[in-house]
Amino acid sequence: MKFFIDTAEIDDIRDLSKTGLVDGVTTNPSLIAKSGRDFIEVLDEICAIVSGPVSAEVTATDADGMISEGLKLAARAKNIAVKVPLTMDGLRACRTLADDGIMVNVTLCFSTAQALLAAKAGAAFISPFVGRLDDIGQSGMQLIEEIREVYDNYDFSTEILVASIRHTMHVVEAALIGADVATMPPDVLRKLAQHPLTDKGLAAFLQDWEKTGQVILS
Ligand code: G3P
Repeated sequence: MKFFIDTAEIDDIRDLSKTGLVDGVTTNPSLIAKSGRDFIEVLDEICAIVSGPVSAEVTATDADGMISEGLKLAARAKNIAVKVPLTMDGLRACRTLADDGIMVNVTLCFSTAQALLAAKAGAAFISPFVGRLDDIGQSGMQLIEEIREVYDNYDFSTEILVASIRHTMHVVEAALIGADVATMPPDVLRKLAQHPLTDKGLAAFLQDWEKTGQVILS
């Protein structure tokens, strides 16, 4: 399973990239607004740090506008994945950009039917928002299961990029289903490494080691 981080905060991207666990980055207009930074400037900085796919979202709502914006964003770096919303215009833009050899991430997916259309439109990634479905009392993970089944039925190469991840169990459940990618806030990635028994065990090991009076490096 690939891990993307869902942020436009350069410090977090730089810090987590050092672990070797970051396979890509996703951004959206809200994350750019939160960063308070210039969109293109942030994109360039992210692409200089991360070699995997970096999603950059268009803000036009008509297909032609999305295509023009998508071409501009894709020209910034080879690893840009242009993000378009799951609308009919977005699907049209997806097909055009994909035919041009550009990676497209179709976002704001909330149904299996939508995911099927994105795959047919040549999307490199489909982004189902699990947290936002859970928020309204629907099962985000059931959607991931259904998309996995449909994509496997037809050997679609579109990668399932689980988005709107809110906690570590979302990542684990997505991995159990066989989703291709999980994009998560930086803190969720950090929390995946944490376990109280790890902390307790490490403290005990260090306490016992100190009693020996030895050092590994002198
Ligand atoms: O990747 C999409 C993500 O940024 C949306 O997350 O928590 O705003 O639903 P959230």
